[in-house]
Amino acid sequence: MVMAGLPKSLSGQDVGSFAYLTIKDRIPQILTKAIDTLHRHKNEFFEKHGEKGMEAEKKAISLLSKLRNELQTDKPIVPLVEKLVDTDTWNQYLEYQQSLLNESDGKPRWFLSPWLFVECYMYRRIHEALIQSPPIDDFDVFKESKDQNFFESQESITALCTHMKELMKTVEDLEENQLKEEFFKVLQISLWGNKCDLSLSGGETSSQKTNIVNSLEDLKPFILVNNMEQLWLLLSNCKKTREKSSITRVVIVLDNSGFELVTDLVLADFLLSSKLATEVHFYGKMIPWFVSDTTVNDFNWLIKQLKHSNHKWMSRCGVDWENHIKTGRWVYLDHIFWTLPHEYSAMSQVAPDLHAALQKAHLILFKGDLNYRKLTGDRKWEFTIPFHEALNGFHPAPLCSIRTLKAEIQVGLLPGQGEQLTASEPNWLTRGKYGIFQFDGPL
Ligand code: F6P
Ligand code: MG
Repeated sequence: MVMAGLPKSLSGQDVGSFAYLTIKDRIPQILTKAIDTLHRHKNEFFEKHGEKGMEAEKKAISLLSKLRNELQTDKPIVPLVEKLVDTDTWNQYLEYQQSLLNESDGKPRWFLSPWLFVECYMYRRIHEALIQSPPIDDFDVFKESKDQNFFESQESITALCTHMKELMKTVEDLEENQLKEEFFKVLQISLWGNKCDLSLSGGETSSQKTNIVNSLEDLKPFILVNNMEQLWLLLSNCKKTREKSSITRVVIVLDNSGFELVTDLVLADFLLSSKLATEVHFYGKMIPWFVSDTTVNDFNWLIKQLKHSNHKWMSRCGVDWENHIKTGRWVYLDHIFWTLPHEYSAMSQVAPDLHAALQKAHLILFKGDLNYRKLTGDRKWEFTIPFHEALNGFHPAPLCSIRTLKAEIQVGLLPGQGEQLTASEPNWLTRGKYGIFQFDGPL
């Protein structure tokens, strides 16, 4: 699966790196928080399921404590045991990781193996722990923090929905260059929405308190790669050349729920009302993932919350968005591939059906940091390597990563740009302060 000549994977082997610190500090913190959440829901489990609920809570907690212990003592990564649709694929991938090691390295381990693999594995093991603990097997240990992020971002969400619905009134009459300006605004809103993920803060709250629309100008200098123009050219060209009955499909591979999801839905709403797209397909996660990632429950919950809001424009957004779903102009989809550990260059082999579906898109937007890591294989690329090369053969359709930087990986920079940033701001790659719109594909 690995092509010769590819750089090494980011890994916990590099003591002091962000990968190392994540495995050492942040992941155990996330596990502790999950255990604590289960504890706090004890009474709820009892009310719902009686003694069986209490026993299940104990079991899930003991499985998660065991997992935390395995991690902290750098034990070998063990195969998954509970038979689910993706179990065999996971265990095959574990064997593949084993095959990459020298005899002397022994088995894949937390601090030895690629960071992307062990971090994904951790979330999959949390899922397994819950699955092994019926009747609380459908409990999402991260749901509470995702919802909290939504509630704590109310002010900013209100401002966004208001901006959006005001804009809708005039969108039909906008001149071409005004439309482009508004398109760039919603793109940037969606970019900075990615600052608020919860796994970076170890599951602690990370909401958006201010009106993001007013901050866009100030944030512009922090966009390191800005291919918004290419996105405009591509979609405005689709709009101009499309026949009456034909479609323009944009796929958004979603990242976090809560505030970020609102920003993505605002973008998707704009795509329809501006006619830059005729349909939007969203992909979410099938299991709770990287703390704040969107599942179908989160997606439906958020739209319902907006719909029932007392605020006129928020509820209007909720109603309109529900309508887009009913009429099929918005389609929510999921696929098990998104919660596998594979890099995207393996998609055509591991999930050919998903790859074929993505090929039908006119444009694919990949939201967030984890998607970027999977697009580029989470490898130690030089900063100046072209994005196209780092994608390592993954080109189902024109695509764009919209991401704030939260991992030590960035490609496609100008010569010297990365080195300069490193000299002036040692943490520039991991704080979520910088962002990119990085496009690949013919126009
Ligand atoms: O735990 C670290 C990490 O994988 C980082 O790459 C990133 O900070 C986060 O999790 C996920 O970020 P996002 O929600 O933007 O994909
Ligand atoms: Mg995420």
